[in-house]
Amino acid sequence: MIRRLMLVAAVAALPFVALAGDARRDAILADYAAKARAADKGFAAFSAQRGETLFRTKWTGGDSRTTSCTACHTANPRQPGQNAKTGRAIDPVAVSVNPKRFTDPATVEKQFTRDCRSVLGRDCTPLEKGDYITFMAGQ
Ligand code: HEC
Repeated sequence: MIRRLMLVAAVAALPFVALAGDARRDAILADYAAKARAADKGFAAFSAQRGETLFRTKWTGGDSRTTSCTACHTANPRQPGQNAKTGRAIDPVAVSVNPKRFTDPATVEKQFTRDCRSVLGRDCTPLEKGDYITFMAGQ
């Protein structure tokens, strides 16, 4: 009986678990926003449009196999990707099809570091990171 009650309680709590995923993404964005503001007092808001440009631009500073984010994540973020270096499959990066995206701060930072260096040949700024997540959150 107690077991059954616990199960009911767990199922009832599920919508809140899903919402907590969004709260974690919001917290990541808030952290990048604070850093963007610290770097530039004129910072107003992240831009999905700038995020899309970052995603689609062909850069010249990085690895020649990966001149663009689309080299691995494909031109359509709702589609699965493929790692241009290893050939391994990558789950879609659009939040609409993959709601777990951008919810773990350590993973997000680790991948931004690795992927921005590979594509741009430098670290992405907090502004670029926030723009990118804002773009993907609307995809
Ligand atoms: C060499 C292939 C490759 C390229 C190019 C690439 N990525 Fe990725 N990316 C990956 C892999 C592999 C993962 C980790 C596996 C996964 O998350 O499915 C990942 C995951 C991420 C994540 C973590 C997402 C999450 O769920 O938290 C971010 C952020 C990210 N990439 C940003 C970028 C950006 C920005 C660019 C372009 C500047 C880019 N990636 C280009 C391979 C790539």
